[in-house]
Amino acid sequence: MENTSYFKIRVSTLVPNSPTTFDLFIQLHGRQVLYLRAGDQLKPEKIAHLDRADVFFVPEEQRQAYKAFIFGRLNDSELNAGEKASLLRESSLTLAEEIFEQPDVSRALNDSKELIEQFITFMEQEPEGMTHLVGLSSHDFYTYNHSLDVSIYSLGLGSVVGYSSEELGELGRGALFHDIGKRNVDVEIICKKGPLDDIEWAQMQKHPQFGLRLLTDYGCSEAMRACCFEHHESFLGNGYPQRLSGQEIHPMARIVAITDTYDALTTKRSYNQPMSPADALEFMKTKLAGKYDPDLLDAMYSVLFRMREAGAAS
Ligand SMILES: [Fe+2]
Ligand SMILES: [Fe+2]
Repeated sequence: MENTSYFKIRVSTLVPNSPTTFDLFIQLHGRQVLYLRAGDQLKPEKIAHLDRADVFFVPEEQRQAYKAFIFGRLNDSELNAGEKASLLRESSLTLAEEIFEQPDVSRALNDSKELIEQFITFMEQEPEGMTHLVGLSSHDFYTYNHSLDVSIYSLGLGSVVGYSSEELGELGRGALFHDIGKRNVDVEIICKKGPLDDIEWAQMQKHPQFGLRLLTDYGCSEAMRACCFEHHESFLGNGYPQRLSGQEIHPMARIVAITDTYDALTTKRSYNQPMSPADALEFMKTKLAGKYDPDLLDAMYSVLFRMREAGAAS
């Protein structure tokens, strides 16, 4: 049997009642089985029993056809900014998952460029797009989900404080790989449900160093390395690993410090309930006061509640 490789796409990115431009496969007993041939219509009743997050498999050689389909829909005047934001996020999640499952770090780093550029282009084309995107977090705790959300929030925060597209590219990718060093932490520690003991915690706290080493080995920029190495520093100087404080911390790492905590607080974990966006920011401002750059924390308010402000201002 030939060795075809497939990539995953989410059901939610497809349009029922219109012909597909690529083949859809499903996985049965570990094998891909043809479900719908390119050109055939996807009947709503066929996918009615499926969840938004369920996936189909598309042969690798048809990746361009799927990309063109998503690109076309993102430029379709029939869709509003909210629908486009949702489509972009849903199609990016499977891509982020691929990037995080990719054992070849240089390929993962390379593939991330296109992913982040898609978000930056979308933000530039749809002024309201970011507001919709930041409201779409799935509040899921998988690494790729967390990393993608931290990246999206960071792009929002970066654009509010006036970063150029080039700087946003660095920030978006730095945020996407902020926890890349967790690849070198024992899986049992990463997946442990309860609190970590001292030895486990010491290993977990090494993930910024592990990440720095990886990103340095692969020739990443200073900004990307800083997002990874300095995202657990604290504005008051009691963070780790270097105990940097205030302006000593790279501005992009100060952004990731905020968006990383925000995502953790608003994400459902086995041991706690997620906070609402407003509660999470309030908690960071009061209980975690001093950990974050106060100006950036204020800017985070406008990222999350921009819709209201934009509505009031214009
Ligand atoms: Fe981290
Ligand atoms: Fe993180």
